[in-house]
Amino acid sequence: MANGDKSRHGKVTVVGAGFYGSTTAQRLAEYDVFDTVVLTDILEGRPEGLALDLNQSRPVEGFQTKVVGVGGGSYEGTEDSDVVVVTAGLPRKPGMSRMDLLETNAKIVRDVSENVARRSPEAVVIVVSNPLDEMTALAQIATGFPKNRVLGQAGMLDTARFTNFVAEKLAVPVGSVQTLTLGSHGDTMVPVPSRCSVDGKPLADLLSANDIEDLVVKTRNGGAEVVALLKTGSAYYAPSSAAARMARAVIEDSGAIMPVCAWVDGEYGISGVYLGVEAELGRDGVRGVVETELTDTELAALQEAAEAVRAKQADVADM
Ligand code: LAC
Repeated sequence: MANGDKSRHGKVTVVGAGFYGSTTAQRLAEYDVFDTVVLTDILEGRPEGLALDLNQSRPVEGFQTKVVGVGGGSYEGTEDSDVVVVTAGLPRKPGMSRMDLLETNAKIVRDVSENVARRSPEAVVIVVSNPLDEMTALAQIATGFPKNRVLGQAGMLDTARFTNFVAEKLAVPVGSVQTLTLGSHGDTMVPVPSRCSVDGKPLADLLSANDIEDLVVKTRNGGAEVVALLKTGSAYYAPSSAAARMARAVIEDSGAIMPVCAWVDGEYGISGVYLGVEAELGRDGVRGVVETELTDTELAALQEAAEAVRAKQADVADM
């Protein structure tokens, strides 16, 4: 039964009513912590229809959060959102790398970001569009928001994939597995085996270096494997879980520490780049980057990832 007394507050807008956006809106609504979830799209009718459908699930699922659909590329109704999740942009097709989407999605993400900045000047923006690290950097430039208020979703997803693969390999519950990935949401993803454990035991004591490397490769290709099977569109169940958790941490001002794409300014000897790191999330987005102890190899890989994404992020400023 719906919990009518539960306190809810705030508005979250999800831009883009494709599978990623609509499942994110669903998860956010089912948390029952927001007052309103707004789902927008350039298509007329799709977000309105999905909102209608989601609202009709409320008596069964037992949530009160109101879902509002806004089509036709309008931002009316999104005003003063506390959190905006940007899923707008094209997904990959089989065989494409995330980077192949750069120019097309840059135009879309810039346009969305400018509209978000006008309508919701105090929002925390969570970007999920690909290529992730570059689109996050572009959203910060195009909104002009402080860097702590713009972040990207990737590490939560990559970590979830890594955890799932380890749990499957060892036939243990996912809840007993801890993993961590840093770096980029792409070729320079940096899994951190030294921070991976199963029931507190180091992963390296349970699996051979080769087995761990296989799982790392599987994690890095986790998104592409789904794209190849779906043939149209990319993953959305695990990605939306990750994005929705981040939005929830923001509205609840929870202080949760999660791997996200955040502005790095001195941590790990890296400065001036959006990169996958662990960060503490709260009402203002990123409260701070949390530095973890890395082995020399892991640190070198993270620094290499930073230089790879830095070069690309410089390009998006003019896109
Ligand atoms: C993935 C896409 C959403 O990794 O980046 O599935």
